[in-house]
Amino acid sequence: MEGTMEAQAQQHMDKRLVICNWKAYLGIAESVRTAEAIAESFSDSEKGCLLAIAPTNLALCRVGEIISKAGISLCAQDIDIGGKGAKTGSTPIEVLEEAGCEFAIIGHSERRHRKAPETKESDALINRKLDICLNSQIIPILCTGETEEERYRGATNNAIKKQLVGGLEGISAEAKEGIEKLIVAYEPVWAISSNRISRIPDVTEVNEACKMIRRHLYSLFVKEKADRIRIIYGGSVEPANVSAYLSVNGIRGVLVGKAGTDAAKMEAMLKAVGSGPVAQLLPS
Ligand code: 13P
Repeated sequence: MEGTMEAQAQQHMDKRLVICNWKAYLGIAESVRTAEAIAESFSDSEKGCLLAIAPTNLALCRVGEIISKAGISLCAQDIDIGGKGAKTGSTPIEVLEEAGCEFAIIGHSERRHRKAPETKESDALINRKLDICLNSQIIPILCTGETEEERYRGATNNAIKKQLVGGLEGISAEAKEGIEKLIVAYEPVWAISSNRISRIPDVTEVNEACKMIRRHLYSLFVKEKADRIRIIYGGSVEPANVSAYLSVNGIRGVLVGKAGTDAAKMEAMLKAVGSGPVAQLLPS
């Protein structure tokens, strides 16, 4: 198992990541159709990029069957804590592994900042989910990012620090050992297309956030492990801006929401990603 995980991690390490979070935008039939269209256009020239799709849970198996043939990975949008057993309504990690998920999104802002306070995800819960993923075959993508209000009052660094420290401090020794496989997404809440105000971050702002994330990772883990943790950007990524975000030093890929549900946009986006330079694949 250990050998497989290492091989998988190494194979991923050198590639640009494009992770599509389909959220709850598509039903099952729509997910199947969109997966087929994306799989069909995912050509060999783009295989320098690792594409993963996170459909709604109910479409995981069907989408997985379609995209795996095209070399596209499957991603879960979340995991539940606790394993198989008497847990009504739960989707444990073992079942996500069986469905073929290689990645899981953890701590997305749409789960952290839910309207009903009793359903908001806490850093403590996210911490448990990360520990579970880090002890499984699944690669966690930890979402971080400040709200508009936090940015306005200059609290971006504190918000990111709280999410990283709260999400990662005190994880088990085994999880810490395999921390290199972690991916951290910088996804400012105000830049997500569904809540966007007027603008999206420029490359300087993304670079600043990337440096903050790396600094906090250094405070949590030994440098050589922290250096290997990949940082990606999410928030209104489109074919027209994907190359600019990928040009930010230290940014290893993108987390795409709405645009990822549009096969034509994905074709254009992957063309742009596949032809970009490789010098950016260095740590920030
Ligand atoms: P958009 O690309 O629609 O802004 O969504 C980003 C996101 O939340 C991905 O997880």
